[in-house]
Amino acid sequence: MARNREKEDVESRFNPPVSISMADSSISLLKLISILIIFVVGVVIGLVSSSHIDRYFTFQGDEFNFKNTYFDTEQFSHDGQKMVVNCDGEDCLSMESFVRLRNLNHRLRDDELFWRASFVPQKEELPFRRVPRVAFMFLTRGPLPMLPLWERFFSGQDVEKYSIYVHALPGFDLEVSNSSVFYRRQIPIAACRMGSVSLVDAEKRLLANALLDFSNERFVLLSESCIPVHDFPTVYKYLIESIHSFVDSYDDPTRYGRGRYSRRMKPDIKLADWRKGSQWFEMHRALAVKIVADTKYYTLFKKYCKPSCYPDEHYIPTYIRKFHGALNANRSITYVDWSQMGPHPATFTAGNITEGFLESLRNNGTRCSYNSGKTSICYLFARKFDPSALEPLLNITAQVMGF
Ligand SMILES: *[C@@H]1O[C@H](CO)[C@@H](O)[C@H](O)[C@H]1NC(C)=O
Ligand SMILES: *[C@@H]1O[C@H](CO)[C@@H](O)[C@H](O)[C@H]1NC(C)=O
Ligand SMILES: *[C@@H]1O[C@H](CO)[C@@H](O)[C@H](O)[C@H]1NC(C)=O
Ligand SMILES: *[C@@H]1O[C@H](CO)[C@@H](O)[C@H](O)[C@H]1NC(C)=O
Ligand SMILES: *[C@@H]1O[C@H](CO)[C@@H](O)[C@H](O)[C@H]1NC(C)=O
Repeated sequence: MARNREKEDVESRFNPPVSISMADSSISLLKLISILIIFVVGVVIGLVSSSHIDRYFTFQGDEFNFKNTYFDTEQFSHDGQKMVVNCDGEDCLSMESFVRLRNLNHRLRDDELFWRASFVPQKEELPFRRVPRVAFMFLTRGPLPMLPLWERFFSGQDVEKYSIYVHALPGFDLEVSNSSVFYRRQIPIAACRMGSVSLVDAEKRLLANALLDFSNERFVLLSESCIPVHDFPTVYKYLIESIHSFVDSYDDPTRYGRGRYSRRMKPDIKLADWRKGSQWFEMHRALAVKIVADTKYYTLFKKYCKPSCYPDEHYIPTYIRKFHGALNANRSITYVDWSQMGPHPATFTAGNITEGFLESLRNNGTRCSYNSGKTSICYLFARKFDPSALEPLLNITAQVMGF
């Protein structure tokens, strides 16, 4: 109401009670118009310089209420105490949220998450002390039967040097005590409305969640049947000091390799680009960002790599070979036994767990290339271990593996 009255007031100034006789000559009409123009200009100048117009705009401001709230002068004053923002939960933009994410919960959809995870800082100097971390990413359907072994592996180690992520099927809650290193390390997947539970989606989701922590430097994918075959300090040093990522990537000329290629991927992916490899990768942050950021090639695989082609065996090996081959060691650091020639690798049960067997996984006499040299350590992890193998493993690790 107040605004209307104000407006009427202003309008009355624009409509002075001047009556014009239609009988006047055109010259006097012209005169009158120029006088009118000068008058109007005068009024406007007068209004602008008067406090009156200030009040007019103030009233207009009332209409845009949100503006008043957002541009509250108090919030932007230099008085630091007024700058305090009330943040519930841990979603605030703090250094902590970049450097050490304590709470893995978020409501991002996959597309939002992948976008956010693909950020790469341009500034080289860090405003914090960065201890490079190894992200251990567990891809599991349900429980982690080897969890007690992993607990022992991490026990007493520097918590700044590792982080744990667990991706389980929707609806499964990993229940561990609050003293476990796995406590609250399950990534949210209930919120990924657009997401699917395909293996590559799950791998990308794990990578993306781990990438949110800027201290994570190496990313290793593990399954519920994986075990470590070396102690944490050895694993950490091996991965952090490696100039290569460890992604199995090879050309398989049989129908289980090249036979799964689809010509419809041309010209983006040619048969010569096509690679195969175990999905249990280990990669450097630079490669992880590329995987999470890629949409084009992943979409091609989703469309044309259908059973009996499995994207989890081809997408990452092919993509990395095509664009970042020089960064890859082209071998896996997770041991698996395919010697039985079946469709699945061998599973090791309680009876297989002997000192000799574990020693052969740790060092079987071959030497593998590492950086520019050779090493007797070819594998840091091994699969597949039956839950029955846990007890004998726990019994023997201290003397064989040193943890
Ligand atoms: C862990 O759980 C126990 C019992 O459930 C509780 O007493 C304790 O306060 C918890 N510790 C932390 C750090 O939350
Ligand atoms: C892995 O393969 C790529 C592509 O063939 C090659 O460029 C790279 O040097 C290989 N890595 C090692 C460590 O030999
Ligand atoms: C594991 O044990 C099974 C039967 O107990 C045996 O057939 C297999 O050869 C063993 N594997 C190894 C690597 O010793
Ligand atoms: C060691 O492991 C490699 C790779 O699995 C295998 O090819 C080789 O035969 C093994 N060597 C011995 C001595 O067991
Ligand atoms: C654990 O090791 C001890 C001694 O080496 C042995 O007597 C015992 O049977 C082992 N237990 C299991 C479950 O393997």
